[in-house]
Amino acid sequence: MKVLSVIFFTCVLQINSLEKSPSKPPTNPPQLPNPPVNPPWVSRPVSHTTHMPQTEQKPQTPKVPSIAKPANPNPDQPEQNPGKIEPTNKPHVNDGVLGPQQCLEQKYTRLSCAKVFCPPWMRCISGVCVCKVPYKCPRQESRVCTLDGLSYYSMCQANAISCRSKEPVFSHFSATCKVGDKVEVTLVKSEDSKDVIMIQTPASEKRLVCGKYWDMAAANVVCQNPGNAPSGAKLASKMSYRLLEKAKKWPNECMSVRCTGSELSLAECSIATPEPITEKTEVAVANCYKEPHQGKCEGFTCVNGRCLKYKNTCNGVDDCGDNSDEMCCLSCGNSAFHCKSHVCIPEHAVRDGIRDCLGGEDELEVTEDPKKVTEDPKKGKNKTIQQWYSDPKEEIRNIRTSLEKLECGIPNMDYVYRPEEKVPSHQRSKRLVGGEEALPTQIQWQVAIQEDKEIHCGGAYLGGCWVLTAAHCVRPKPKSFRIKISLWEKHNRQSTTDSIPVKNIIIHHEYNPQTYENDIALVQLELLNLSDQCIQENPAVRAVCVPWSTQQFQPNDTCTISGWGRNKDGKSAPILKWANVTIIADCKTYYKGRIHPGMECAGDLEGKVDSCQGDSGGPLVCKDASGVSYVWGLVSWGDKCGEPDHPGVYTKVAHYFDWIRFNTGWPAVTKYNQ
Ligand code: ARG
Repeated sequence: MKVLSVIFFTCVLQINSLEKSPSKPPTNPPQLPNPPVNPPWVSRPVSHTTHMPQTEQKPQTPKVPSIAKPANPNPDQPEQNPGKIEPTNKPHVNDGVLGPQQCLEQKYTRLSCAKVFCPPWMRCISGVCVCKVPYKCPRQESRVCTLDGLSYYSMCQANAISCRSKEPVFSHFSATCKVGDKVEVTLVKSEDSKDVIMIQTPASEKRLVCGKYWDMAAANVVCQNPGNAPSGAKLASKMSYRLLEKAKKWPNECMSVRCTGSELSLAECSIATPEPITEKTEVAVANCYKEPHQGKCEGFTCVNGRCLKYKNTCNGVDDCGDNSDEMCCLSCGNSAFHCKSHVCIPEHAVRDGIRDCLGGEDELEVTEDPKKVTEDPKKGKNKTIQQWYSDPKEEIRNIRTSLEKLECGIPNMDYVYRPEEKVPSHQRSKRLVGGEEALPTQIQWQVAIQEDKEIHCGGAYLGGCWVLTAAHCVRPKPKSFRIKISLWEKHNRQSTTDSIPVKNIIIHHEYNPQTYENDIALVQLELLNLSDQCIQENPAVRAVCVPWSTQQFQPNDTCTISGWGRNKDGKSAPILKWANVTIIADCKTYYKGRIHPGMECAGDLEGKVDSCQGDSGGPLVCKDASGVSYVWGLVSWGDKCGEPDHPGVYTKVAHYFDWIRFNTGWPAVTKYNQ
């Protein structure tokens, strides 16, 4: 690794051609068409709406929603006629909440798995959640009942079916599964002709829905019930029970419901155990659109076409019905939680045992922040433990635990700090500016690619029989290569070092050696004799995770590079080195047209830290909030090494997720969204 130095070597000026570095990409590289992100087996999407989950769409030429926010004279008053908003001449002000603009242009919804996790009954293909085949769902101990009186092995299975039919299937958790044994929801007119929500659970009287937790997400679910207008809720409000007409006999209990907005009926939401109604109780009221919104939208245009006031975006509540109002937020209101990927999630989704933010930052243990541990902010310190009659969250936790089994990105800590018994003969250099020598078993996913007895490149161990490296590091000649795992000193093996023959090398079909586009390759290891494994159990070798979304890490995140590449003397490092680098935004500023999709820059703009010849193919590893490491980049190219304003260029692995999954055919590529 090249560290803070004068540059002696560049990829072009390869004096010592032992380092198998390809030539510097030309300043005006041929403009090839962008590499297809979709693998060939994925059919081209046609639609991308919340309610068409089987089909998928990469945003075409999206209508750019305006991010301006009109001045709102009375923000708490419901709009007079929100369905038909009259154009106003009020100035539009950008309130700086929605954004970034590129994000809004992508038209993300809750089904955009670049941004959020798919529910367990869906999987992520080319960035879009699609319905799973029901048998891919894990079984549960007790069966679940559905609205039609059938029973399934799990809520996941029932929802996988309902995902395809787009009909509500899942009812609630019951052992009887009799038809009629279901949760029924009706709208009942109050005297002043407000629609109050009634809910009837099996074998019990009708109850009202309490005002607690009642929001647009829940009202949208009610307003899409068969028999109601399908266009969603205009308003979710509450009214005092006291104001209900006394002549009519109203229930004396209510049940709170909490929905995410993705449910097809209230029965799929979390339903709390009944509470007695007092004079003070507020009950839920929904105001459903009679027909879809038409005309110009003066607020935020949801991806599904609905129109919201700006103040209803980025509050953690799915006001749109497709969650598009929560997907691109620079900050979040309403005590919602802001994920690093710019998504707002509701407060109740924080530390609930279900990871919502891509990096898991919503599930971190936080010691001091009383506001966040309280269920209901209004209740302050008197935290009441909510009792749930039916809680899909519990099921989701179970399904996700049983699906998310893959182990990657966590080093074997017992080995990380273990110095090798055999102390190397030369003086170990201590901290170098910007980088340092690794401990013998510190970087457990680092591999060396050996070609005809020489090591010119690094790589990343993905687990199973797979190693990821740069295309420019390999040729389609498996016999000439071996992969060295747990190597530390480049020319000496340590007790945990192993050298594995290669079975196959898959170079990206659109790799361009002139421009370095798609500089990525998979190396398949040879199976061990009479085994289905490729490497012997090794305490000093662990797999790194493959990022499935290009949004998991962002510019300015700090990540780690490692390799045996050249250092400041132009010599390749005898001992594996590592350094921290920062992900750099807008790399075109530095390299102009030489930056293509699937490339990303990292380093520092002063040129203090960089990778260099011989580091190629090696991993740029980023750690998420939960401490799991991902191979975010592969060392690919750069102008010289450690040049100010010429950071290292890396192959952006997440861009190739579908390619990796397709070519390895390996289900264990990711533990999420499977
Ligand atoms: N092409 C080089 C190799 O094959 C990697 C160069 C990386 N250069 C840089 N400035 N980061 O090893």
